[in-house]
Amino acid sequence: MSHNISISPETIAAAVADAVSAISAASDLASLRASKVSTVGEQSAVSKLNAQLKNLPHDQKASAGALIGQARAQLQQAFSAREAELEALEEAKQLEVESVDVTAAPAPARIGARHPLSLLQDQISDIFIGMGWEIAEGPELESEWFNFDALNFDADHPARAMQDTFFVEPIESHLLLRTHTSPVQVRSLLERELPVYVLCPGRVFRTDELDATHTPVFHQVEGLAVDKGLTMADLRGTLEHFARQMFGPEAKIRLRPSFFPFTEPSAELDVWHPNAKGGARWVEWGGCGMVNPNVLAAAGIDPEEYQGFAFGMGIERTLMFRNGVLDMHDMVEADIRFSRQFGVVL
Ligand code: PHE
Repeated sequence: MSHNISISPETIAAAVADAVSAISAASDLASLRASKVSTVGEQSAVSKLNAQLKNLPHDQKASAGALIGQARAQLQQAFSAREAELEALEEAKQLEVESVDVTAAPAPARIGARHPLSLLQDQISDIFIGMGWEIAEGPELESEWFNFDALNFDADHPARAMQDTFFVEPIESHLLLRTHTSPVQVRSLLERELPVYVLCPGRVFRTDELDATHTPVFHQVEGLAVDKGLTMADLRGTLEHFARQMFGPEAKIRLRPSFFPFTEPSAELDVWHPNAKGGARWVEWGGCGMVNPNVLAAAGIDPEEYQGFAFGMGIERTLMFRNGVLDMHDMVEADIRFSRQFGVVL
């Protein structure tokens, strides 16, 4: 049998050359690895030659065996080299796909904005905190006594009906949605040590239909000062400072006689708004007056010893004439495009 066996250096070199070109032809790791059995493994031409070694004449076995051993080492090396090359190539490709351009402009992220009513409420609070006042709060679901009785409204005072109140059932509970922030005056006097200087911002409710200038839910800010020897001059000075902080150094105020059960004397407060849309003018801003002695008495304070002044105004109304907002709907709809006009303040 030995005569038709040929394991010459040439056959070995040809088998190696075929396998090496198959190895270098593999264009990716998967096909390279799939070809391993046929190029360097069991199915390779060199392995097949190796299997025939045993059929060689005895004197040729050693040299042919050595040649085949070298050929196998050569193939193994070619395979490993190509494998490393393809691994590097594929890693580079992967890195490119996953790369991040840190210099790219980011997509604009949409961020929210605080509601202008909240901003204005904070701005007003800051003006009074700057004068040493404190912020006081009371419940929105209020007892009739705090909302009306303690504020000197008679049981059948027309003002109770005038205020268009949301009463809460059962009627015997005597609860209502507060119609103004003035009940916080009495609560503050009962809860705090004298003297009292408080600013009370908050939500109030009246049975109005929503239209361009009304809303059943709105906000007020109430001021109350009770101390020894306070006079109308203190009220004027405080309101003038407030007006200038809000509307600029040319702003001024004007008081017109009016009536509220809880202040005596009472006045309507107008502000000269130098930068009003359409030109400087007087604008109705709120109500004010000296705290009625009956209110001080309801809170257990001797009106002979202590005097007070109070004022209150609508925050929606203030925002409307300060910023030229024409429609109340814009303020209640919470459209981010409306809020963003006032700036994104945190
Ligand atoms: N509470 C009054 C209102 O809602 C405003 C006011 C407050 C008037 C304080 C005088 C003093 O109309």
